[in-house]
Amino acid sequence: TEPADLTGKKIVVTAGGTREALDPVRYLGNRSSGKQGLAIALAAADRGADVHLILAHTEVPDPDETEKLRISRVSSALELLEATERAAIEDRADVVVMTAAVADFRPRDLSETKIKKDPEAQDAPTIDLVRNPDILKTLVRKKSEGKHQAFLVGFAAETGSPEQSVAELGRLKLESKGCDVLVVNEVGTDLVFGKDRTAATLLTRGAEPGEESEVRGTKADLARRLMTRIASHF
Ligand code: C5P
Repeated sequence: TEPADLTGKKIVVTAGGTREALDPVRYLGNRSSGKQGLAIALAAADRGADVHLILAHTEVPDPDETEKLRISRVSSALELLEATERAAIEDRADVVVMTAAVADFRPRDLSETKIKKDPEAQDAPTIDLVRNPDILKTLVRKKSEGKHQAFLVGFAAETGSPEQSVAELGRLKLESKGCDVLVVNEVGTDLVFGKDRTAATLLTRGAEPGEESEVRGTKADLARRLMTRIASHF
């Protein structure tokens, strides 16, 4: 059994991949399965937290809603931004864990009708994209403006090289995002995306390089380690 060390804490977890609509039948999406975010939501509820799981598109069945676990559903990055801001500011979340894979760009225009091909022509349309807001950075900024007080956890997927380790890349990203903890997943190996196992480093802002912890195990193992890290903050 798990310690109930997060009792009374409101924890928001985002999971899955956003979809950016092109027309009524098409979208730009990504391969995020939602497994890691679900594991985090369940681990948080196990430790006594009141969990709000905000799901984008996932490839695994939804967990059952319980008294400790509420689920909302979004599709695009802008919808996820709105839901996450509301959870942090209006619902006064104590923690926001941004596991979701958020599209960095969206089509500039949404066609109200299905985009058609011209059967006579060989040309193809060009899709103009615009930047989506960075939700995590937006939450960091709003926290510095005093609009909420949530402890902010980000995720990153990095591939290391002989010149730059995954942990080094992660420390740079932690600085640029400004969140409190960054979980850096090592991708490119046969791990992480869509899998049950993961390889990750937990980085904490302001900590010495020796204090970072590595997790190789299941996504549930990583979720438990993250909960211990979060509980130690309170
Ligand atoms: O910039 P990058 O995608 O590597 O950062 C990953 C982290 O930032 C994740 O926690 C993800 O949920 C978050 N993110 C975000 N808004 C975006 C892109 C990423 O909140 N537009």
